[in-house]
Amino acid sequence: MIVVGIESSCDECAVAFVRDGRELLGQVVHSQIRAHERYQGVVPEIASRRHTELILPVYRQALKEAAISPSEIDAIAVTTHPGLSGSLLVGTTFAKGLCIGLNRPLVSVNHILAHLYAPHLVATVEYPCLGLLVSGGHTMIARLDAWDELTVLGATIDDACGEAFDKVAKFHNFGYPGGKAVDELAARGDDTAYDFPGSALKGHGHSLDVSYSGIKTAVTAQAARFLRPGKTASPENLAASFQRVAIGMIMKRLDRAVEQTGLVRLVVGGGVAANSRLRRELEKRRHLEVAIPPMSLCTDNAAMVAAIGYEYAEHKRFAGLDVPVGARVAGYKAAY
Ligand code: KG4
Ligand code: ZN
Repeated sequence: MIVVGIESSCDECAVAFVRDGRELLGQVVHSQIRAHERYQGVVPEIASRRHTELILPVYRQALKEAAISPSEIDAIAVTTHPGLSGSLLVGTTFAKGLCIGLNRPLVSVNHILAHLYAPHLVATVEYPCLGLLVSGGHTMIARLDAWDELTVLGATIDDACGEAFDKVAKFHNFGYPGGKAVDELAARGDDTAYDFPGSALKGHGHSLDVSYSGIKTAVTAQAARFLRPGKTASPENLAASFQRVAIGMIMKRLDRAVEQTGLVRLVVGGGVAANSRLRRELEKRRHLEVAIPPMSLCTDNAAMVAAIGYEYAEHKRFAGLDVPVGARVAGYKAAY
């Protein structure tokens, strides 16, 4: 079965073709970096307008890459939630048009479940397992009992981890996109130069939750206060110290989640899963069986949408053409 995946929830406009949920036949991902660079962040209105210009050429190019004809498509999967409403609407409307034009069924995909499904494209994943999702919009540790059965164990109470990377980069002019820029600078810095505060949430039920607003303020507005005596203030040192604490926060919660659940299998997804420090920290934990996709399948892509779309199609769980888009999904942020 060939499923086409369509992803337009934020600034990536992507189309991919996947056979039987595992074999990536071809994919085109257009990151709208140039369109948003001057604003150092994604501007929703610009993103949705660019998607309308890009979606058809990206689809046509992906068909070429996969070397298939539209008549070979068995089902059309599209991210409908969560994300930027205007952007989601473009991909979803295009998908509905394809359904009508090709007379094929529609699959409505949850972006978070798709990120956590991406490891299936490179590894055999067994359930139950833990899921770590770290992206620009979400940060959560979950228990997965099946590809579509997710229980949130811990999450951010405010900003997402990727959002903190982006804002730190924007404030200090490290470059755009921010996460990658911080990661690259950090490679040349002393990660002990600054003593930035981690996240210390008090109270029962928060042992797996995180907060990024504190470190975001510390690194942007108050950096000088946290420079250790005898250390040098430099972009590299600041980036490395921020990255140590930001990734350390997640690793601490992940270690706790392993301890609390006894689960050692882990799937990882989301843009921050491309972070070199996070990947190194995961590698160090030899007791864990980690399924983590290559960088290109960590950040937003359509292969993960097509892959999980196959599961829905196999189970004949199709959506109606009246399926709406949804900016948010309840329960993905911890209440505090
Ligand atoms: O999954 P994704 O592409 O989009 C969302 O669903 O949000 O994640 C984008 C996020 C951005 O915040 C970006 O800065 C971050 O992933 N990111 C990174 C790295 N590459 C991308 N953060 C840290 N280190 C990286 N190497
Ligand atoms: Zn994403």
